[in-house]
Amino acid sequence: MRTKLLLGNWKMNKTPKEAIEFASQVGDLVSLSKKHNVEIGVAPTFLCLVDVLSHAPEGLIISSQNVNEHDHGAYTGEVSASMLSSIGVTHAIIGHSERREYEGETSLRCHEKIVALLKEKMTPVYCCGESLDTFEAGETSSFVEKQIREGMGGLSKEEASKVVIAYEPIWAIGTGKSASSEIAETTIKNIRDVLKDMFGEETSETIRILYGGSVKPNNVSQYMTCPNIDGALVGGASLEPDSFKALLEGMINA
Ligand code: PGA
Repeated sequence: MRTKLLLGNWKMNKTPKEAIEFASQVGDLVSLSKKHNVEIGVAPTFLCLVDVLSHAPEGLIISSQNVNEHDHGAYTGEVSASMLSSIGVTHAIIGHSERREYEGETSLRCHEKIVALLKEKMTPVYCCGESLDTFEAGETSSFVEKQIREGMGGLSKEEASKVVIAYEPIWAIGTGKSASSEIAETTIKNIRDVLKDMFGEETSETIRILYGGSVKPNNVSQYMTCPNIDGALVGGASLEPDSFKALLEGMINA
């Protein structure tokens, strides 16, 4: 049985003061999530990680939004997995479509980042998803399959089982136009089939696959009733404690 995960992606939002305010208000949520065997976490900017870590209730997962594939050296502006791990960050979002689009991040580079994170015993949250043009051309499965094969190729079964995948159709991110649960479940089932082909059935059944893209308190439940969807990666609706709580309740009550 895969443990469900609710992860808030704060993107470039919140000053350290605002991030601390959030972290100080979610103690009840962590207790509630533990009671229902759901994992919850947030991904603040690099700038806020230390403050969030020191004010967050125990059990709240703290993730970064990116990581560099190298361990240290002349990479101005970058942060490595060992640095994140040294302060207690356990997860990192990799290959978000905004990074693929604005920073030219490729699936092959994401692969290197996944390897760097696994080396530090961290959990990569590897994002994939297609553009509206690709979706309308009916090429979603082949497009996403390539992202999965390039990002996950070469990992051992054990390593692959530690990766969390997030399927986020680009046309649904921040647009308010979420993918229907049927579309999300179909693509996520396809991803699981690709993983089965790459790593075998047993491993593919242990890998958690989240849906992301305009997940809100009023639609989160519909995804959670789908057999292959193991949680949600949420941007806008994760920014306020009340809405984050409503997302968790929606997940639990699904
Ligand atoms: P959204 O963002 O929930 O605001 O659509 C999701 C994401 O980009 O991870």
